[in-house]
Amino acid sequence: MAKYYVTTPIYYPNDIPHIGHAYTTVIADVLARWHKKLGDDVFFLTGLDEHGKKIQEAAEAKGMKPREFVDKLVPEFKNAWKLLNLNYDHFVRTTDKDHELVVKEVLKLCNKKGDIYKGFYEGLYCTGCEAYYTEKELEEGNCPIHKKPVKTLKEESYFFRLSKYQNKLLEFYDKNKEFISPGYRKPEIINRVKEGLNDISISRTSFKWGVDLPFDKNHVTYVWFDALTNYISGIGYPKAKFKKYWPADLHLVGKDIFFFHAVLWPAMLMSAGIKNPKKVFAHGWWTIDGQKMSKSLGNVVNIPELVKYGTDSARYFLVREVPFGADGDFSMKLLVQRHNKELLNDLGNFVNRSMALLNKYSNGKIPKKGKDELCKLFNFNATKKFIDILETHNALSEIFKFVNECNKYVNEKQPWNEEDEKILSNILYNLAEALRYLSIILEPFIPETAGKIAKQMNLKDKLSFKELKFGKLKEGHKIGKTEILFMKIEEEEKMAKKEEIANVEMVKGKDWIEFGDWEKMKLRTGTIKKVQQHPNADNLYVIIVDLGYEERQLVAGLKKFYAIDELMNKKVIVFTNLKPAVIRGIESEGMILAAEDAKSCTVGLLTVDKKELKDGAVIR
Ligand code: MSP
Repeated sequence: MAKYYVTTPIYYPNDIPHIGHAYTTVIADVLARWHKKLGDDVFFLTGLDEHGKKIQEAAEAKGMKPREFVDKLVPEFKNAWKLLNLNYDHFVRTTDKDHELVVKEVLKLCNKKGDIYKGFYEGLYCTGCEAYYTEKELEEGNCPIHKKPVKTLKEESYFFRLSKYQNKLLEFYDKNKEFISPGYRKPEIINRVKEGLNDISISRTSFKWGVDLPFDKNHVTYVWFDALTNYISGIGYPKAKFKKYWPADLHLVGKDIFFFHAVLWPAMLMSAGIKNPKKVFAHGWWTIDGQKMSKSLGNVVNIPELVKYGTDSARYFLVREVPFGADGDFSMKLLVQRHNKELLNDLGNFVNRSMALLNKYSNGKIPKKGKDELCKLFNFNATKKFIDILETHNALSEIFKFVNECNKYVNEKQPWNEEDEKILSNILYNLAEALRYLSIILEPFIPETAGKIAKQMNLKDKLSFKELKFGKLKEGHKIGKTEILFMKIEEEEKMAKKEEIANVEMVKGKDWIEFGDWEKMKLRTGTIKKVQQHPNADNLYVIIVDLGYEERQLVAGLKKFYAIDELMNKKVIVFTNLKPAVIRGIESEGMILAAEDAKSCTVGLLTVDKKELKDGAVIR
């Protein structure tokens, strides 16, 4: 059994968590769940970076002791991770006693190696970063990250001989080509190391909130030296669990803290004689509606806000929206669009239709095993490849390609029109298997939804990827109750629709004149006999209506509001003498009447409530 150890940065609990913290942690959760399904022995670590001047100052500002202050913020993070359905194995805190012991142990090992010495440090210090900057690195005299002035600090300090590791690091990068990821970020790290590394100050005397140096109680450990050690303390260094999971398979970090992870951390480990992790991957930053996220702008997206339309919609958006590694822009409107289109219309619709078809044509029971026509279209290897190279966005899009294939299959096969029982049974078996596949492959990304699909299918939750073989569903297996997976989010949709509705009204206004006088308008009842997707327009159907005396072909914009099987056999009202028109290449003779509520964007057909009323009956 392979092992898989993935970590997130440990976050500063100087405030409540936000989308930036959520992002890395969601991706780590997706990867951890994915590897569990592969059968790997997984360990997923996250936690908090609780020491340092920044935390001490934040606590003071609230009139609190640092310990009391961080203790109050721990539940904020843990609750946020619950809201996002994150399944981590351990939540490390740098104030944990066992973590502090490991920090001291690592310091002793580096000291023994001769890599720590005492000196004075004078430098330009940014409290936000807990780091010194060189003049060159500043932007107009400000910290390049926080854009705030830095302070000149001079203090007695212990130093770590980072400079000694310059060549060793370069050799290490050369031998371990995957270590710095994504590859396009390599030059930024390698050039910086090539330029030469300064020894790094690793202790402070100016404040007390930290781990005492084991060889000088007047100094506390520099917060980065303390924090990086969490990756080994969190798995119980040097005990059995550490032996099992170390080296880490993946440290996920934001691009701003890449240097610490790709340069300082491996140098510390080399010094302490501990193996290096396999990979450090730096992702980009989220802006909010095109702007930098900041408290002063008041646009910080916290977790309850992020999940306000559902945990899975947030998780789906974060993974799908931006190529993992690149910067991205968050907006609620985009999240809602993806929710309504991909989750509700594509996924939700397929699940709903398939459940309805299984209930209607197979009595809610799995029919006889059929031939694989649909699941073979899911490319597991391509999806896995994307996960392996950390293109999580592409992995999810590969799965949704399959969802689209599923919808296409239903549209093409039209089980409601199928008279051959064998063929119908085969279609239904394929749909059931596709639902089972979806419940498995979606779980790492949108676990709640995957669980709901499994429940509807009356299957065990969290099945492994080994179950991705066609034909596992047993004939006669009773499916469960249908449950709606996603509700339409109207709010923002309405905003986007307003304009569209206004345009439609204008066009309709023109039509009304053409409709002529109402006296000449002929309306008759008809039954919908056939519905097909319009070959040239996504939102249109081509419909055949039986008018009793003849069959009529019409083109109608009902796709958004009705699934094909919902329209079948409906008794509707047809405007029979409307001048024929060619709509996107297909002739339309007449119009089916519908009512539209522009406010809620709902369209409902006018139907006839008496079955015995003949097709072609005149409406007077
Ligand atoms: N405590 C250190 C990490 C120590 S790891 C040994 C730290 N903490 S932090 O809370 O300031 O930031 C943690 C992570 O959040 C970083 O990886 C950072 O990139 C990420 N993000 C903060 N804002 C972000 C965005 N707007 N977008 C994406 N991620 C961003 O640094």
